[in-house]
Amino acid sequence: MRSRGAVAQAAAAAAAASVAPPLVPPRGRPWSLKVAACACLWVCGVLCLLFTTAWLHLSIKDNNDEALDIVECVVRVNTFRRDDLLAQFVNHYAKCPCVHEIAVVWSDVERRPPEWLKEMPKVRVERHAQDSLNNRFNALQVPTRPAIFSVDDDIFITCEGLLGALEAWRAAPSQMVGPAPRLIAPDDDHRGFRYLRWWHVWWNGRYSLVLTKVAVFHRDYLAIYADRADPVLREVRAHVDAHRNCEDIAMSFVVANRTRAPPIWVRLHYDDYGQSFASHAGISAAKDHVAVREACIQRFAELFGRFPLVTAHHKTIDARSSWIW
Ligand SMILES: *[C@@H]1O[C@H](CO)[C@@H](O)[C@H](O)[C@H]1NC(C)=O
Repeated sequence: MRSRGAVAQAAAAAAAASVAPPLVPPRGRPWSLKVAACACLWVCGVLCLLFTTAWLHLSIKDNNDEALDIVECVVRVNTFRRDDLLAQFVNHYAKCPCVHEIAVVWSDVERRPPEWLKEMPKVRVERHAQDSLNNRFNALQVPTRPAIFSVDDDIFITCEGLLGALEAWRAAPSQMVGPAPRLIAPDDDHRGFRYLRWWHVWWNGRYSLVLTKVAVFHRDYLAIYADRADPVLREVRAHVDAHRNCEDIAMSFVVANRTRAPPIWVRLHYDDYGQSFASHAGISAAKDHVAVREACIQRFAELFGRFPLVTAHHKTIDARSSWIW
């Protein structure tokens, strides 16, 4: 309990406080806050004005993509007994304005193509009499467009991405263009070749070919690849059949042998379901894949009489996707 004296003291103090003159509010602070706020607003306004002026000055009127004249392509897709994936594939690519036709390369000699497939928009089923990886490049009819988009049934890129690859291809139509580069380097004793995967490309910033599981090239190369009269290419195709691998390396040899130039690596995102779903794992997951590929390179170089691939360091990117010049 507090004593009487203490209570009286507290009361007196309270009375003194109530009569004391109120504290003068500090004058400077609210004033400088207001100045700062005004200055801030002014700077923001000036920045907005500058930005709008720059925007209006720099933007061109027809910067929508419909105004650009687009390149159309023929999609060539390899598929084998994965109808669910194929349906998804066709549904997706048929919606792209740059896709003129989808040629489904049907190599399953024991099974007829399903009826639903033939009824899908833009689809033409190309039925082959033999099951061969070479069918990917063996067009039974001349493709209706010069640009061929060669792709696996488990690879998805956006329509805009495909248009970008076609745009890059149009600038250099004799080159192969693709987002999946690989590097081939001489081995340590310079007698053979090393087939190096994407992490080597990433580490070294060098590449020698782009995979045809997702690439654009000119239809003329289909005719060259499948040429029955060329003895070298006959042997090359026989090697592909015997090892069930390397048709993509063979096509890279064909193109580089003509152009004496590297392919064009484009930055482009693609979803590869073959890599991510174990149930759909393709041949590149096999253990001896690299050894088989290296043997192919060796054999093809012997057949061509030289190693035609050219190594390069440059990647093409969509200018809209990068801020820094
Ligand atoms: C490679 O290129 C040479 C020279 O252009 C040509 O004569 C030869 O037929 C080509 N080889 C193949 C297999 O295409």
